[in-house]
Amino acid sequence: MKKILNLLFLSLLLSNIISCSQNKTSKSDADMDRFVDDLMSKMTLEEKLGQMTQLVVGFDTTGPVMSKDVEEKIKAGLAGSVLGIYTPEAIRKLQKIAVDNSRLKIPLLFGYDVIHGHRTIFPINLGLAASWDLDLIERTARAAAEEASADGLNWTFSPMVDITRDPRWGRVSEGAGEDAYLGSRIAEAMVKGYEQNDLSKDNTILSCVKHFGLYGASEAGRDYNTVDMSRLRMYNEYLPPYKAAVEAGSSTVMTSFNEVEGMPASGNKWMMTDLLRNEWGFGGFIVTDYTAIPEMVNHGVGDSSKVTELSLNAGVDMDMVGEMFLKFGAELVQSGRVSGKMINDACRRILEAKYKLGLFENPYRYIDENRPKERSFTPEKLALSKEAAVKSMVLLKNDGDILPLDPTRKIAFIGPQVERKRDLIGSWSAAGDWTQAVSLREGLEKKFGKNKFLYAQGANLLEDTALVKKLNDFGSLIEISNKSPRQLIQEAVQTAQRADVVVAVLGEAFSMSGEAACRTDIGLPENQKELLKALKETGKPIVLVLMTGRPLTLTWENDNMNAILETWFAGTRAGDALTDILFGDVSPSGKITMTFPRNVGQIPIYYNHKNTGRPVNENEKYTSKYLDVSNEPLYPFGYGLSYTEFTYGDIRLSADKLVPGGKITATITVANAGKRAGTETVQLYIRDVVGSVTRPVKELKGFKQITLQPGKSGSVSFEISDNDLKFYNADLKYVVEPGDFTVFIGGNSRDVKQADFRME
Ligand code: NOJ
Repeated sequence: MKKILNLLFLSLLLSNIISCSQNKTSKSDADMDRFVDDLMSKMTLEEKLGQMTQLVVGFDTTGPVMSKDVEEKIKAGLAGSVLGIYTPEAIRKLQKIAVDNSRLKIPLLFGYDVIHGHRTIFPINLGLAASWDLDLIERTARAAAEEASADGLNWTFSPMVDITRDPRWGRVSEGAGEDAYLGSRIAEAMVKGYEQNDLSKDNTILSCVKHFGLYGASEAGRDYNTVDMSRLRMYNEYLPPYKAAVEAGSSTVMTSFNEVEGMPASGNKWMMTDLLRNEWGFGGFIVTDYTAIPEMVNHGVGDSSKVTELSLNAGVDMDMVGEMFLKFGAELVQSGRVSGKMINDACRRILEAKYKLGLFENPYRYIDENRPKERSFTPEKLALSKEAAVKSMVLLKNDGDILPLDPTRKIAFIGPQVERKRDLIGSWSAAGDWTQAVSLREGLEKKFGKNKFLYAQGANLLEDTALVKKLNDFGSLIEISNKSPRQLIQEAVQTAQRADVVVAVLGEAFSMSGEAACRTDIGLPENQKELLKALKETGKPIVLVLMTGRPLTLTWENDNMNAILETWFAGTRAGDALTDILFGDVSPSGKITMTFPRNVGQIPIYYNHKNTGRPVNENEKYTSKYLDVSNEPLYPFGYGLSYTEFTYGDIRLSADKLVPGGKITATITVANAGKRAGTETVQLYIRDVVGSVTRPVKELKGFKQITLQPGKSGSVSFEISDNDLKFYNADLKYVVEPGDFTVFIGGNSRDVKQADFRME
């Protein structure tokens, strides 16, 4: 009997396959609706709840729970998706079980964290953002999708678009930084790169906007912590990138771990249904973050059954790893606490995604054992990795033009990060292979041979053995040298004394940022600072090269080092890119997308803050400031130097009045006043001087890049329309209000030219 049933369903599937065999893109939504209607008419409630369940297997988990009896559940139709594995072989095995052994033979979705590259790793996302190069970012997402799909995957949990103003939070490394406008443009570029508006191709995959929402605003920069903010702030400052990604066509959205207005996101009906679906028109499916539904019990909003009810009624479609829909869904429907319609809608959305991917036509369309060889680690992707690394690096200081280095001088490279490879691919490089990364030393030796420079380790990455253990438990491979810290420093000092210039290569371990990697002290580790102090005493000029996953507090370093270059964790070709930058084959052009504070006490610190009633005045006591440190950050948003110098003329406005529906053009001349070619990111900010609600002192509204040869200049123009002046008012209406506006244009958010106009 079972055999006959199986045959029946196989023939059903085949007939579906045949009816779908023309080019899927030419087929209408009506075909998809018919197909899904037909399939759902055969599904039991349990099978629908199964589609709404994602199990985890394999290598990477981000929570304590692992799924059990995965193969049995797939056979029983109790899984719609699996996360945590890749490679065609591993995925084929599970897909085959779903297609050959489950009653309805519905193929699985395979999801994975493809965050800044899959096999070929690009700089961490905060570094990619610092390139301000949307085309580059889109190309990296496209390359990542190509490698991921070659490995059997059809879904990435990216882009991560959480706005954040707190560098203590480890996950700042995964996003685009503090600005909603830039974050929105980057979100769009990534969605486009992954999906290319065409899921019928075998090298595009579902993207997933996360973490919806407001996850980056967790209190005290501590992961998973409470979030609380006004809707005015949400709409104007935190929500735009999620909305932009949805409007760019992202197929899925992931809920966040935090609460919003007293309800965890995964049970928050206002967020998931009223805002995301009804207000923004999102038509894809919503997956929770890892075990986020059972975690709602800890949040204190109900027992397991209650939190499942909340989540289903909020409009969540898929439960990542919690298996709560499997456990409680049927009972909730039977008792009438959740409607059958909610389940049908959720199941339908998931089946639609599978249909759009072409999985019903061919469940194995992403699975081809030859593809990884053909598509991964190709010369083009490796070249892209180097290009991205070069463009992500930010020059924070360069006194006396000590950089670029002159290879004819005696140069000492000192520090634990000269040779370490483990950190270069950063956190969330789940399928990345750090052994393939090029260290700085390898990059230098490739270019200059083995005996050209002096080297010394100088310090361990960390001396704090408790911290080292914590990090090594999760694969950090931090070694403590047999030599004592004093010995290491002595050797470094002796090496420095033999050199004309010292390059100190220091920073964090990759695992000091990323998920669940928050810090209250975001300075360089103490032992590394000791090394810098000893090097400083040699009197040699010092270039500090940083490898970090977040902005650090660098006040002492800024006062004492001759140059500082932020290289983030720059990916597979880090060492090659860094060598080119250090020796001036190309000038750095990155600009930071998070403010660098002077100390942690200034946090949260961000450029687009509001004015107080008592704006800072150092000469008056009762103004908004600190006693012990200035309000100004160490390096402002948008800041980054070049080996050349750019000067800005005055802003020329095409008119001083803007009428509704009209445009003004703001033009500025940028000149390369230095001796080298360079690329500058010209930034446009606008201030709404008087509003019906208070408005930020300035907000980014555009940016353009210009490459100039020495002595040359060029004009950069921005068109400003009333659209650029809109904001959400107290009624959360998106409006433009007549009145005075100021335009600012410059190379960062602080050093700007300005001009005024009126909106009629
Ligand atoms: C938890 C993380 O918060 C999320 O970003 C990630 O996509 C999932 N785990 C899956 O690994």
